Amino acid sequence: MKSVKVGLLGLGTVGTGVVRIVEGHQEDLSSQVGSPIVIEKVAVKNIDKHRSIDIERNKLTEDPWEVIHDPEIDVIIEVMGGVEQTKEYILEALNRGKHIVTANKDLMALYGAEILAKAMEQQCDVFYEASVAGGIPIIRTLIEGFSSDRILKIMGIVNGTTNYILTKMSQEGASYDDVLAEAQQLGYAEADPTSDVEGLDAARKMAILGSLGFRTNVDLRDVAVRGITAVSKEDILYAKRMGYEIKLLGIAERQDDEYSISVQPTMVKHSHPIAAVNGVFNAVYVYGEAVGETMFYGPGAGEMPTATSIVADLVAVIKNKKLGVNGLRAIGPYKPKKLRTDEQ
Ligand code: HSE
Repeated sequence: MKSVKVGLLGLGTVGTGVVRIVEGHQEDLSSQVGSPIVIEKVAVKNIDKHRSIDIERNKLTEDPWEVIHDPEIDVIIEVMGGVEQTKEYILEALNRGKHIVTANKDLMALYGAEILAKAMEQQCDVFYEASVAGGIPIIRTLIEGFSSDRILKIMGIVNGTTNYILTKMSQEGASYDDVLAEAQQLGYAEADPTSDVEGLDAARKMAILGSLGFRTNVDLRDVAVRGITAVSKEDILYAKRMGYEIKLLGIAERQDDEYSISVQPTMVKHSHPIAAVNGVFNAVYVYGEAVGETMFYGPGAGEMPTATSIVADLVAVIKNKKLGVNGLRAIGPYKPKKLRTDEQ
């Protein structure tokens, strides 16, 4: 039986999880897609680095182009991060007819529409479930599960690092710096945690969710952002005494053909289910005109939860490839919507 060959760009925390799942669940995965799945080539920063998984040295390269140019490779999984250069890799892979699975929220928030248009032109799949809320299948849910509804509001705790920090500060009175260091050690935080704590990571994820929920193409510059760096232990303590938790909350709202999106530390009443979302967990609350209130909860970061979404995307892409169809997509204006500002 001909195997499906996969190229991996990046072998950090999430890439390692992908290898573990593809190898550990191989029998189940291959029975779902009807052929073995082989990680054929992996682009890494440093071939000689010590790794926690066994991977044949001859599969490693320090040149991502080697993976993109390999004619044997059917699907590229991108978990290296970065934006401009990574976009070039992905566009070239699509030019070569390869399907893409990416966890890259920065890339999808900035260039999602362009990348998906190229994918459509090339009749390739680009799946990006892991770009928002790690292990929660929220992208599929917004594109497919709610295709019949008109989404009016999305509220999300979509950054695991900051939720971990705020939870530890609230529950243990821990200091901001100590908890941030811990989150970095656990592999939740970005390489440069500024984007986590300043709210930029959450803003990118909310831009993606807003684009999908409101069926438009949200410009990242239109997301109002404030992070958690100014939140003190005292703020958290006083909020608690008044019956609130402080959460870094993304709020996307739509009224007719206008929308607004913001990310900021927000006081959430203890009685609201979002107040009980602790640690690295994420939650996305979606309110639809027809469905009413829904909420999705799960791990938002970390090796195995994020890799779970990536490998699920891989399975979907391989199934589509075998059927000769393409799937998922969205990000892009079916009907462009306007940004709602205070002046309006
Ligand atoms: N740094 C991100 C977070 C990783 O903490 O949520 C997952 O996107």
